[in-house]
Amino acid sequence: MSSSPASPPSPKSALIVGSGVFGLSTALALSTRPSFATTTITVLDRLPFPAHDASSVDSSRIIRADYADPAYAGLASKAQSIWRQTEPSQLGGEGRYSESGLVLVADTGNGGEHYVRESYSNVVALNKRNGVADNSVTELPSKEAIAKTVGTGGGSGDWGYINRCSGWADAEAGMKWLRAQVDATKRVTFKTAEVISLLYSPSGDKVTGVRLKNNTILEADFTILATGAWTPSLIDLRGRSQATGQVIGYIPLTDAEQEKLGSMPMLLNMSTGMFIIPPRNNVLKVARHGYGYTNPVAISNPSSSPGKQEEKEIIVSLPATTHNHPDLTLPPEAQSAMKHALQSMLPTLPARPFSATKICWYTDTPTADFIITYHPNYNKSLFLATGGSGHGYKFLPVIGDCIADCIESRCPPEFREKWRWRENVVDNVVTEDGSRGGRRGMVLWDEMARTHVPSTSSKI
Ligand SMILES: Cc1cc2nc3c(=O)[nH]c(=O)nc-3n(C[C@H](O)[C@H](O)[C@H](O)COP(=O)(O)OP(=O)(O)OC[C@H]3O[C@@H](n4cnc5c(N)ncnc54)[C@H](O)[C@@H]3O)c2cc1C
Ligand SMILES: *[C@@H]1O[C@H](CO)[C@@H](O)[C@H](O)[C@H]1NC(C)=O
Ligand SMILES: *[C@@H]1O[C@H](CO)[C@@H](O)[C@H](O)[C@H]1NC(C)=O
Repeated sequence: MSSSPASPPSPKSALIVGSGVFGLSTALALSTRPSFATTTITVLDRLPFPAHDASSVDSSRIIRADYADPAYAGLASKAQSIWRQTEPSQLGGEGRYSESGLVLVADTGNGGEHYVRESYSNVVALNKRNGVADNSVTELPSKEAIAKTVGTGGGSGDWGYINRCSGWADAEAGMKWLRAQVDATKRVTFKTAEVISLLYSPSGDKVTGVRLKNNTILEADFTILATGAWTPSLIDLRGRSQATGQVIGYIPLTDAEQEKLGSMPMLLNMSTGMFIIPPRNNVLKVARHGYGYTNPVAISNPSSSPGKQEEKEIIVSLPATTHNHPDLTLPPEAQSAMKHALQSMLPTLPARPFSATKICWYTDTPTADFIITYHPNYNKSLFLATGGSGHGYKFLPVIGDCIADCIESRCPPEFREKWRWRENVVDNVVTEDGSRGGRRGMVLWDEMARTHVPSTSSKI
């Protein structure tokens, strides 16, 4: 069975659920496509824009082409050339993008090292192809070289490199810029409402819209789920994707500390997943790109359709944020991992409490590939644009067009296999793209309840 239609669809109505990077960029791209010229386009989100707990909304996101996979490295490099446009009206303007440089390090002899070495050869090759100056990427072959380049007195680790062409984005500001582009098309209607389920045709072989929390029905010819880490609550993605919680801490700095650290590069330790974003407005961010926490919840099977034998109740991992858990803090193991990371990366910075903490949710897939595809069961009426796997934000200026291409059955060839609906499901979704640090298999509320902190210093 082919999972792509022969010609582009021209639906009367298209409903995009979710106004994060994937949903908003899709709205923008579809608004310019001839096949959607007469389509009514609606974007729905459960929270007013920008949704404070969406993964696209935060103080910063790393913008890097430093990937071990050449396809993502290439697309990221294309995105980055747009982030680098810094006129006030452009994406990278008004402080939305800062090219601080990125130091990637790993201890020799673990999985992180392999990723860093592959990523190094990709960025060297990309820079050569793009005519970027040779000294933009420099190998850091020893502890001493790393320490010298980071310039904070810390930054051990055995091997790494600096890519001076990598930077970071003010993520929330980037989303507001994208929203302004969408508003300017005057093609898209925004609504704030939570979808509680998809609507199915009587035979169950088509999605005909959504049911909202207030029980109102919103019909649509074509529904796109861009609901990030919440997607497994609306469609059965077991074995394909799940939400994993990632920890962030914000540290208040004095003016003198801001002055001293303001020009440091970003530092990402691929052995632990811990990373530091240079401070802005006297706040430094430390976070972990790790396997994360699962938050298993029993829900009624969202894919149930009459006449099919399916389990009534399923267990899936879904986000827990301050929206549904106002008192949410960080588990002790995370606090301790962050303390250690700060000590090793910024040894001269005196310890202090966080000014704020946050658990942010990745939409993880086993390979860290996105899921950008028609759902095979619903006759082209349901499309998924999700599976960001902790690296989707940087693609803000390019992913919408890729998604629209996939909708029009012209998915970029290098991503056709990567983004398709996988027939083979895994028992347990664990992202193994070589980039993750920390422990595997942590469950959020178990870690919250622990008083003894297990060692977090290396991959187990
Ligand atoms: C801590 C952290 C660090 C990251 N770091 C980086 C990085 O350095 N570089 C990078 O490129 N990427 C990074 N990422 C990944 C990147 O942020 C994500 O891949 C990307 O933002 C995902 O966008 P999205 O649109 O899929 O999801 P989201 O931005 O979460 O958007 C989904 C939207 O759907 C809405 N929604 C959900 N359910 C419903 C419902 N039932 N009804 C209505 N609306 C609903 C939500 O409110 C939300 O607004 C990071 C992610 C996290 C969490
Ligand atoms: C990265 O983490 C490893 C493992 O804990 C540690 O040995 C190394 O010193 C860290 N590197 C940096 C730059 O902090
Ligand atoms: C339900 O919510 C939608 C979207 O906010 C709104 O348009 C509609 O009027 C609401 N319906 C009821 C019955 O409150």
